[in-house]
Amino acid sequence: MRVIITKDYDEMSKEAARIIAKQIKEKPDSVIGFATGGTPVGTYKELIRMHKEEGLDFSKITTFNLDEYYGLGPDHPQSYHYYMFENLFNHVNVDPKKIHIPDGLAKDVDAFCKEYEEEIKKAGGIDLQILGIGRDGHIAFNEPGSSLASRTRLVALAEETIKDNARFFEKEEDVPRYALSMGVGTILEAKKILLLANGESKADAVAALIEGPVTSQVTASALQLHPDVTVIIDEAAASKLKRKSYYKFVDKMYRMLEEKKSL
Ligand code: F6R
Repeated sequence: MRVIITKDYDEMSKEAARIIAKQIKEKPDSVIGFATGGTPVGTYKELIRMHKEEGLDFSKITTFNLDEYYGLGPDHPQSYHYYMFENLFNHVNVDPKKIHIPDGLAKDVDAFCKEYEEEIKKAGGIDLQILGIGRDGHIAFNEPGSSLASRTRLVALAEETIKDNARFFEKEEDVPRYALSMGVGTILEAKKILLLANGESKADAVAALIEGPVTSQVTASALQLHPDVTVIIDEAAASKLKRKSYYKFVDKMYRMLEEKKSL
């Protein structure tokens, strides 16, 4: 697991956008897994800037989103569908036919979830999956206790997640109690994973993800089993890590090697 510690949110967002852009430039028809929430907004802003000012081309990528609130349609302003178009897709040249977001209004949920997994396989699997992390250590909406082998399915949101996400709704009662979410097993099949976190409120979850035991009580800890994970966190989110200086040393070494390669 590569850990990159940045001074603040802005630097985290730019670093993440740089990695995503590199993936798209190296493989223009990449399959990218997108996350929603507050954390990646700055990264998406930077990707939009790169598209507008530097010509970063999204036309050949295929996208799969991690999750969607169950019961919210694509036009609902709090749906993840709406979020993705507002924060990224409306501003870059992604092909609408290649966008996949779980359908919060799916009638036959089981059939829809199976089909979503099939679509990912048909696209050749996810090349780069972007993730945030919940305060309870969830990735996508895999709440504590989710199987580390879980697949796309209907999940119940944890109390803490409902409270955290209430900031996007008028009142807490409006937050949907269920979501369709890729499973931990689905996420672990991505070729590369990029997890972002910022702020002190994420420090415990980040410490558990990087330095804790692998446990279904912190589903992000399953990423320790994946061979190609990059975690980008700001100083506040890194504040509870025991081996912070070692991670910084390793990151410096990686950067020196990368510089040498590009000479
Ligand atoms: C969103 C998602 C969630 C969020 C997590 C953190 O698609 O899958 O796991 O990444 O809840 O949310 P924020 O970034 O709002 O703190």
